[in-house]
Amino acid sequence: MIFDTHAHYDDEAFDEDRAELLASMKENGVVHIVNVGASIATTQNTLKLVKEYPFMYGAVGVHPSETAELNDEWLKWLKSVATSERIVAVGEIGLDYYWDEPDRDIQKKWFIEQLKLAHEVKMPVIIHSREAASDTYEIMKEYEAEKLGGIVHCFSYSVEMAKQFLDMGFYLGIGGVLTFKNAKKLREVVEYMPMDRLVLETDCPYLSPEPNRGKRNSSLNLGYVADAVAAIKGISRDEVERITFENALQVYKINL
Ligand code: NI
Repeated sequence: MIFDTHAHYDDEAFDEDRAELLASMKENGVVHIVNVGASIATTQNTLKLVKEYPFMYGAVGVHPSETAELNDEWLKWLKSVATSERIVAVGEIGLDYYWDEPDRDIQKKWFIEQLKLAHEVKMPVIIHSREAASDTYEIMKEYEAEKLGGIVHCFSYSVEMAKQFLDMGFYLGIGGVLTFKNAKKLREVVEYMPMDRLVLETDCPYLSPEPNRGKRNSSLNLGYVADAVAAIKGISRDEVERITFENALQVYKINL
């Protein structure tokens, strides 16, 4: 039983076969998926997908690289849709200094506004943070993200940073990168972190694991990531699936 905690099935990479692909999830052991908004348009798409597919949940939010489009009106709209049925988180929100656009001040402003929104609606957050570890951490501290809880998605930092986010009560999202040859740092993080804070994610269509690296990703590939976690932790793949499934329900406050 696999729970994909972070996917983008509204992406145009799925336009040709979205319905068939999503219809094949259950028979392949993928029981639930959270589709994550990354802009106003993709949040609108997420709301539609969640309505159409009862096994899917959604997150509403604007990714740091898309924050130039935000204004007070759209923020109000995000708040109004955050309480829709099967919407379980605010995200993905955060800071991205890799692409480094728009200006960091704009990214920070809307990261903070969306954290405040999460407090208002009392929902967990999905954090996107790339090459911005300390600013992300400081803003989360200042705006009491430990009271919200959530996931640091596609975790890419060191063991030291992992400890700080774990101490704040956050879960770490682990995906295809774990299977890459050069992922030594991430393997160390997985070795270090407790199993009860690990959630599986694809970030599909991106970040396909080995042996499918470079191809379009989907939740059907999450078994490879579960295998990689199992090997590092010295437990069975079934255990990994069972524990991470429970973790996903816990972090998103889903009562089945
Ligand atoms: Ni994403």
